[in-house]
Order: sequence, then structure tokens, then C-alpha cells
Amino acid sequence: MKSEEALATGKPVSDSQVEMAELVLPNDTNQLGNLLGGRLMHWIDIAAAMAATRHSNHVCVTAAVDEISFLHPIRLGELVILKASVNRVFNTSMEVGVKVYSENALSGERKHSNSAFLTFVSIDAGRNPIKSVPVIPKLPDEVRRYEQALFRREQRLKHREEAKRLWSEGTGKEG
Ligand SMILES: CC(C)(COP(=O)(O)OP(=O)(O)OC[C@H]1O[C@@H](n2cnc3c(N)ncnc32)[C@H](O)[C@@H]1OP(=O)(O)O)[C@@H](O)C(=O)NCCC(=O)NCCS
Repeated sequence: MKSEEALATGKPVSDSQVEMAELVLPNDTNQLGNLLGGRLMHWIDIAAAMAATRHSNHVCVTAAVDEISFLHPIRLGELVILKASVNRVFNTSMEVGVKVYSENALSGERKHSNSAFLTFVSIDAGRNPIKSVPVIPKLPDEVRRYEQALFRREQRLKHREEAKRLWSEGTGKEG
């Protein structure tokens, strides 16, 4: 879709969808043979960045990452499947959801191991935030994520204001 047309009408969630797969190798694990949390966070950030960029067709930077919980360990030799897509666009920012599965390729067993929400901002060549194309949810799950994203944004912005206030109380400077 041409960018002027997309800005006026929006793009479907499917245009941003990314599926990424990684194999857990020894260098990705701790002493117990489990995937390092930091490595998984890196892959989550990469998958989300690809979805944001695919949607906006601009460079996108990570503005915030919501809490990430690790539901169960992922073992050496397992596959990690990350599915990312844009849930909702606000103005210059957008929420990207990433769902992570671990897969034992020998047995075929797949488990949901994490879900993460990240905020990305589209930037122009001068590195200034720019308005992004709206996203159009169609499927029931897409509509549910779109609606819930607004609540999460409000919580994030409240948290950001609170963090700024605490920072300025502690330092006497503006956050
Ligand atoms: C993210 C960044 C572009 C925001 O720029 P800014 O000058 O603060 O611009 P604004 O305050 O206007 O914020 C731009 C958008 O980001 C959103 N945003 C910024 N910080 C946010 C946060 N912590 N949580 C949620 N949204 C946030 C704002 O709500 C706004 O969204 P909107 O336009 O959709 O309403 C800028 O802070 C930056 O470049 N940060 C570093 C990014 C980076 O290097 N990331 C890599 C990891 S370190």
C-alpha cells in the first residue's frame, strides 16, 4: 500500500506480523542448561522491532518494555518461536505484542513461555518522532488486543509520570 493511502486508511495487523525462530545453543544458556532471560529479552526486542518497522515503514526505536514474566524454563536444544505484531498505534508510538513459545522439535511439544508488550516510536531521518499509520484490527483476537492496548498505554504513561516525579524529588532536577 502507498504510504499516503496507508496514512489515511490504515494497515491490517497482518502486514506487521513476524514469526522468528531461534535454536537454544550452549552460549545462550546458564549453568542449568536453561535459556538466559537476557537472551530471550533480546530476541523479543528484535522480533518486536521488525513488526514495528514493517508496519510503519520507518525506523522504530524501543521506548518502553512492559514487565516480562518467565512462565517456565526453556532448555538447551529447544526451539524458541516468537510471534510479533502491532496491537495498536497511538500517534507516534505503537504497542507491539510478542508471544513466545518453546518447542521440542524431537517430540513436537510446544509450550507458551512468555508474552511481552513493547512500545516503539517511529522516527524520521532527523531522529524525531513521526506519526505512524493506524492499524486496523479484524480478527477477534486482534480486536481484543487493540482494545486492551489502550488500558496498558494509560498505565505506562502514569508510571512514566510517577517515575519522573520520584526522580526529580531525589535529584532536584527535571526527569
Ligand atoms: C522514545 C523517544 C523517541 C521518545 O521521544 P520523546 O522526545 O520523549 O518524545 P515524546 O515524549 O513526544 O514521546 C513520543 C511517543 O513515545 C511515547 N513514549 C515515550 N516514552 C514512553 C514510555 N516510557 N512508555 C510509553 N510510551 C512512551 C509517548 O507517549 C509518545 O507517544 P504518542 O506520540 O503515540 O502519544 C526518545 O525518548 C528516544 O529516542 N529514546 C531512546 C530510544 C532508544 O534508544 N531505544 C533503544 C533502547 S535503549
